Amino acid sequence: MKILIVSDIHGNYHALDCVLKNVRHDKLICCGDIAVDYPFPEQCIDVLMDNCDHICFGNSDYIIAHDQKASDYIGKKYAHLAEDLNKVTELTRHLISQDSMAFLRELPQECRFELDDISFYMNHTGPNMPFNHYLDLNTPYPELAKYYQDIQAEIIFTGHTHIPYVKKIRDKVLINPGSVGEPRDGDPRASYATFDTSTGQIELGRLEYEISNTWQALKELGYPSYSLHCLKNGVLPDKSENDSS
Ligand SMILES: [Fe+2]
Repeated sequence: MKILIVSDIHGNYHALDCVLKNVRHDKLICCGDIAVDYPFPEQCIDVLMDNCDHICFGNSDYIIAHDQKASDYIGKKYAHLAEDLNKVTELTRHLISQDSMAFLRELPQECRFELDDISFYMNHTGPNMPFNHYLDLNTPYPELAKYYQDIQAEIIFTGHTHIPYVKKIRDKVLINPGSVGEPRDGDPRASYATFDTSTGQIELGRLEYEISNTWQALKELGYPSYSLHCLKNGVLPDKSENDSS
């Protein structure tokens, strides 16, 4: 059985559609952050409602569904984007139906499931971790191991960093598929992962997709420039780039 793992779609429907149509899979798993940042949240929620086998909420899903301010959950890393993130959260609220908002509100924080006798655990961030903290490529092993020490699962799926990786934590394997809709590693192509339950093979993949419709909609709806920057460059603008835009 081939499992397709996606995360951090952030309202970028054209990226999601490209991955779903081009990567053969038997099961679809989504690690959260579905709606906020790009202008097609409703379409993303619709397709996941219909096709996803397991899905949990991400920080931006929680913020929009529970009427919170993005700036109240932001860390130092993205503090320069606080006002823009509040604006995008507000713009997105007008693009989501009540049914879809209820769907986001009811998503679980974590999922545990079994497929082909393999145990899985999924959570958008690390377990019991604040939204403004990130387990990224440079996270020291002891910190990583501490977060996952009580998790009983062979394979763990996570998201949040927008940067793909596979890490071994004792007898567990942690798979982060990166971001479908808003990669932040300098490669703007849609990012995803697959896991084959028969062979144990893990693949991290990238796909190029057409961005012109998204670009045009961002402009027409008045989204802040960080969305355009990230769509084109595959990385969020730093403070100097954002101030000069
Ligand atoms: Fe995200």
